Amino acid sequence: MDVVKVPLGARSYEVRIGSGLLAGAGEQIRPLLRRPRVAIVADQGVAALHLDVLKAGLQAAGIDSVSLVLPPGEGTKSWAEFARTTEWLLAQKVERRDVVVAFGGGVVGDLVGFSAAVLRRGVRFVQIPTTLLAQVDSSVGGKTGINTAQGKNLVGAFHQPALVLADTGVLATLSARDFLAGYGEVVKYGLLGDATFFDWLERNAPAMAAGDEVLRRYAVRRSVEMKAEIVARDETEEGDRALLNLGHTFCHALEAATGYSDRLLHGEGVAIGCALAFELSHRLGLCPAEAPERVRAHLSAMGMKVTLADVPGDLPDADGLLALMAQDKKVQDGKLRFILARDIGEAFVADDVDTGTVRTVLQEALAARA
Ligand code: GLY
Repeated sequence: MDVVKVPLGARSYEVRIGSGLLAGAGEQIRPLLRRPRVAIVADQGVAALHLDVLKAGLQAAGIDSVSLVLPPGEGTKSWAEFARTTEWLLAQKVERRDVVVAFGGGVVGDLVGFSAAVLRRGVRFVQIPTTLLAQVDSSVGGKTGINTAQGKNLVGAFHQPALVLADTGVLATLSARDFLAGYGEVVKYGLLGDATFFDWLERNAPAMAAGDEVLRRYAVRRSVEMKAEIVARDETEEGDRALLNLGHTFCHALEAATGYSDRLLHGEGVAIGCALAFELSHRLGLCPAEAPERVRAHLSAMGMKVTLADVPGDLPDADGLLALMAQDKKVQDGKLRFILARDIGEAFVADDVDTGTVRTVLQEALAARA
């Protein structure tokens, strides 16, 4: 098992990474408990595959559990499911000193984390992320929340988990598409801050995607190390944490344009967004042409979506996409915020990006769809 610490003073915690952690979850969680009982909130698909193993793992350490199963999909991050989850936790008599377990991907982690943040003004929770995306990104760093009619993640709280258990063995049950979507966030870490990790991914990611467990564990660990380091510097995104949003301004516009549907998964949008952010950086004279070329070549080699041509169905024109970007919550004082790069592994936050250049990049990317 690998352990990455997230050093946040009194709210510090560990991310433990390894294959088979579910079966030993009881031993890992037991030291956090005042009484041997937890409430688990699980994604339906994950529950069908893995809930028995988790419950048996808890029981082996003498921990009783009750569980609520939520429907899969982004639609679950709603007021209705938030209310249902919170009421259920109250009905289960979860007390201030108890621990709630979020068992699933980013949807369950964000929703349950938010419930835990407000339940009795805050109870501790353990993240057991089961997707690659959740293991490398959403389960770490304490961002929790739900979506509303106004947009994604507009209601929520910073609430750090007490522990994260990332069982890399569970990744074997993901579809190839879901694995690669999560991989979009892994690539993001190399691109934003560690060129050596990106080199490593160029060499090793095909074997990792094919199932190599040792490579998977290293990729998750390195991603989590980078996230932990950034979150420790800037927990509430006053500055550097925004680097984690590389590719996300483009991504959020594309997700909105495709109705947050199966047409484009979040991690797929991140990968396309990273390629566009590097192209934009090049067009602004900030980074060499080889950088966006290398990003696109790697995503292609992985069989991932790379450009707007890979997004099925209609898309708005460049001005329509710019309008969607302007609604993003990362807009500050009406200015579009982008994460740009001077080269691979050298990203920075830019608040004064020329809209005309963004429009040109989008127009050219849209023209390539014809
Ligand atoms: N997913 C971006 C962050 O946690 O800040």
